[in-house]
Amino acid sequence: MDDDALRQEYDALCKEIHFHNYRYHVLDAPLISDAEYDQLMLRLRSLEAQHPEWVTPDSPTQRAGAVAVERFNKVRHPGPVLSLANAFDAADVRAWLERIARLDERVRQCSFVVEPKIDGLTVVLHYHNGQFVQGATRGDGEVGEDITANLRTVRALPLRIPVQADDPQPPRTLVVRGEVFIYSRDFERLNQRLQEAGERTYLNPRNTAAGSLRQLDASITAQRPLTLLTYAVVAVEGGEVPQTQWGLLRYLRALGFPVTDLAAYCADLETAIAACQKLNEQRESLPYEVDGAVIKLDDLQLAAELGFVGKDPRGAMAFKFPAREVTTVLREIGVNVGRTGVLTPYAVLEPVEVGGVVVRQATLHNFDFIAEKDIRVGDRVLLKRAGDVIPYVIGPVLDARTGAEQPFAPPQVCPACGQAVEHLEGEVAWYCVNAACPAQVLRNLEHFVSRGAMDIVGLGEKIVAQLVESGLVGDIADLYTLRKEDLLRLDGFAEKKADNLLSAIEASRERPLERLLYGLGIRGVGEVMAADLARQYGSLDALAATSEADLQQVQGVGPNTAKAIVDWFARAANRNLLEKLRTVGVWPVAQQKPQQGPQPLTGLTFVVTGTLAGFSREQVKDYIQQHGGKVTDSVSKKTDYLVAGEAAGSKLEKARSLGVRVIDEATLRKLAEGK
Ligand code: IVH
Repeated sequence: MDDDALRQEYDALCKEIHFHNYRYHVLDAPLISDAEYDQLMLRLRSLEAQHPEWVTPDSPTQRAGAVAVERFNKVRHPGPVLSLANAFDAADVRAWLERIARLDERVRQCSFVVEPKIDGLTVVLHYHNGQFVQGATRGDGEVGEDITANLRTVRALPLRIPVQADDPQPPRTLVVRGEVFIYSRDFERLNQRLQEAGERTYLNPRNTAAGSLRQLDASITAQRPLTLLTYAVVAVEGGEVPQTQWGLLRYLRALGFPVTDLAAYCADLETAIAACQKLNEQRESLPYEVDGAVIKLDDLQLAAELGFVGKDPRGAMAFKFPAREVTTVLREIGVNVGRTGVLTPYAVLEPVEVGGVVVRQATLHNFDFIAEKDIRVGDRVLLKRAGDVIPYVIGPVLDARTGAEQPFAPPQVCPACGQAVEHLEGEVAWYCVNAACPAQVLRNLEHFVSRGAMDIVGLGEKIVAQLVESGLVGDIADLYTLRKEDLLRLDGFAEKKADNLLSAIEASRERPLERLLYGLGIRGVGEVMAADLARQYGSLDALAATSEADLQQVQGVGPNTAKAIVDWFARAANRNLLEKLRTVGVWPVAQQKPQQGPQPLTGLTFVVTGTLAGFSREQVKDYIQQHGGKVTDSVSKKTDYLVAGEAAGSKLEKARSLGVRVIDEATLRKLAEGK
C-alpha cells in the first residue's frame, strides 16, 4: 500500500475510533465489542509507529496521557466563568424571580430549564476548527490552570467535533463549559480495586475527581474513571450557537458532547420548582452525585442582559439539596457490645447537621476500618448520611491534621465485662465470648422480647434495663419466673403495670419454635433461617444434636452459620440456659412437625429449579420435607435429584454436568408416595 492509501486509512481509522469512543463513553451504547475496539486501536498504533509524523494531539492514542509537567500554566478565560447563587427552598426560588422581575418584567413570561447540579469540577474546553486545543480549570472564574493533557484522558470528552460527519459544523472557536466527575458505580469499583491491592481508598467521587484533574502526570489521570457532562458555552467566534438553554443543550449533544438526559424544559417557574423537587426525590437512584438542581432562564439573551451580582449570574439559580456529607471533629471512639458479643466501634462527634438532622454519633463499622483509614481521635472526619442509612464516617480529612490527633488502639478486653476479647479466623469482628457479659445479657433480652422473636408487649428497653440492673433477670429464662411482688418493688411499677407485664410474658409461652429459635440470638440465624430450621428439625433437642454437615443441607446455612449453631449448643452456659427454659416450660416444638406417615424420601436431598405447575416454591419444599426429604439451594455432588420445572436454567446444566438425576413434578410425586 502506498503512503497516500495508508494516510487515508489512518484518517478514516481515527474517525472511526473517535466515533466508537463516543458511542461507548458519551451515549453508553457501544456498537462494537471491546475486542473489536482493541483491534482498531492496535492497527492505529501500528500505523503511527510507521508514521510518527502523522500523530496529532487529538489522535485517539494520545488519551493515555504520556506528558508530565512541572506545574500548570495559567489560562485567562475568554469570558467570566460564573458561579451560582443558592436557593434552599421554593420560597427562595420565587423570591429570586421577584427580584429579577423588578429589573425586567419579561422574565415573568419566561420558560426555564432545570438541570442536575453535578457535584464535580468545572472545566472550560476550547475547540478550534473542531479540534480540542485547550482545557482549563475554573480557577477564580477569570484565570484557571491549563490541564489540557489531563482532560485529553477523559474519554467522554470529544477530541474532535462534530463526532459524526453529517452533524453541523461548529463555529471556528467554541469554548464549552462542563463538569468533570466520576460515576458512583465507577467510584465504588475504583475503591474496591484499591482495597484489594491494600492501598488507601478515596473519600468521595468529587475529591477523587478533583485530585485526578490536578495530577501533574497525566498518565495517572488516565487511570481514573473521570467523565464529563457539558451545559454551557462560554465564548464563540466565527459562527453562532442557539440562544436558548434548551436549544443549546440539544446543539451540544448534536456536536458529540456529553449532555445530561435529566434536563427538563419547564414552561413556568412552578413547573421548574416541581422539576427540582423531583430531582431531589430521585437523588438516591441517580448514577452520580448531585448536590442540587440548577434553574436557568431558557432565554439566554435575556439572561445575559440581566447581568450578574458579584460572580453569580442573575439568570440562573442553584436549588441546593440538603448536604449529605459534612465534616466534623471526632471527639472520642466508643465501643458497643452487641447481643452476639460483637464489639462495634462508634464515633462520638462534635454535633453537626447533615441531611436535615443533628448527628452526634456515627458508626465506624469495625476496628479494621479504623486502622485502614487511619482514623484518629481528634481528627476532622468526613461524615455521610444518605437516605435511611445510619450516619457513618467515611474517613479523616488528612489535610486538616494538626499533629495532636491520637491513634486508636482496639480494646483487649470487653468494655462491658472486662474479659478478654476473641477474634475468629477469617472474620473482621472481635467478640466478647462471655455469655454472662452484662451488655450481652441486656442486648440478648432486648432481642428475645422484640417483635420478630417472643414479642412480649410492653417490655421495652427501659424495663429490660431495670430488670437486669435490679438483678431480677440474669437471662431470658428468668423472665418466666418473675413474681408480681418482685416487679412491685421496681420504680414506676404499680399493680396494673405488673399484671400487664406478667400476662404479656405468659402469653409469649405460646410462641412457636421458630420465634424462640430466632429469639435465642444465635449468630447468623435470622427470622427466615429460624423458620427453616424449625421446620427441618422440629425441636430444640433435635437441633442441639445435629452436626455442621447436616445443618449445611438446610437452605441458606453456610459453613460459618452451621459452625455458629453447633458452637452455640455446645457451650455449657447455653446448655444450662436451655435446661432452665425447659424447666420453666418454655419449650415449643415445631407446629409443622415432620409427618408421621410413611417417609419415602428420607435420606434424599433435592434441589428445585424452574416453575412447577402444581406447587409454589414454598409448597414443593414443604412437600418434600413432609415426606422425609431435604431441600437445598444449590446443586452439588451430594444432590440426589434435581426437580426441574419450566424455564429451568443454570441449575439444570450443573445437574447434568455432575450426573445428578433430573426429574419432573410427576416423578417427584411418585417417589414421595413410594410408587
Ligand atoms: S451553570 C452561568 N449548570 O455548580 C452558568 N453549573 O455552584 C453557571 N454545576 O460552578 C453554572 N452542574 O461547577 C451550571 N448543570 C449545571 C451545573 C453547574 C454543576 C456547578 C458549576 C458551578 C457550580 C455553582
